[in-house]
Amino acid sequence: MTQGRFITLEGGEGTGKSTQARRLAAHLRTLGHTVVETREPGGSPGAEAVRHVLLSGAAEPLGPVAEALLFAAARTDHVQTLIRPALAAGTIVICDRFIDSTRVYQGAVGQVAPPLLDALEEMATGGTRPDLTLILDVPPETGLARAAARGNGDPDRFEKEGAAYHAAVREAFVARAAAAPARCVLVDATPDPDAVAAQIAGIVAARLGLHATAEAS
Ligand SMILES: Nc1ncnc2c1ncn2[C@@H]1O[C@H](COP(=O)(O)OP(=O)(O)O)[C@@H](O)[C@H]1O
Ligand SMILES: [Mg+2]
Repeated sequence: MTQGRFITLEGGEGTGKSTQARRLAAHLRTLGHTVVETREPGGSPGAEAVRHVLLSGAAEPLGPVAEALLFAAARTDHVQTLIRPALAAGTIVICDRFIDSTRVYQGAVGQVAPPLLDALEEMATGGTRPDLTLILDVPPETGLARAAARGNGDPDRFEKEGAAYHAAVREAFVARAAAAPARCVLVDATPDPDAVAAQIAGIVAARLGLHATAEAS
């Protein structure tokens, strides 16, 4: 059994992460691969309980360090119970947000010190890092307009932040992509969903060599 592949989608609100995670999973399944779709914060029963605490804003008064600890607690459970076993079984894991979101929201924007984030990342992932990270990029006003039009309930703790916050988030994601070019690819996510999906399929094929399996062809 070969080790699976770990692909993460990152970017600000409304950039199309959830849409493209679904599209990429469907595409890879048509090629004959076994794919698990998951998300953060959450992805496992323990982590989903913590997700509610984080996204409801209940942890916000505790400050960015406490929020970072809760994200790390959720990630520890998610990696141990879902991601690592799936990769060990040879599955492709597609995760909607992961370590780069922590570096952007808690680090660049939330000002949590990098050495603490390094330690939390090491603890939570135990070295299980993405093979490929697609960082979806749109102007913040485009992303916020898409998220508002999506209309699935009240904005969460992060969606509620203002325009300057979302501009800082975008800038920090672009910087993440530039700082780790072996793992990250910045994707222009302003075109229509089909065009973005085609671009992502091409990147995944080129970077990870995920073409049709023998069974699918
Ligand atoms: N490329 C695109 N162009 C226009 N609208 C899009 C595009 N991708 C996604 N959307 C729509 O924008 C909204 C936000 O997309 P979503 O995938 O939920 O973003 P995210 O998970 O990054 O917050 C959804 O209503 C989705 O259908
Ligand atoms: Mg989403």
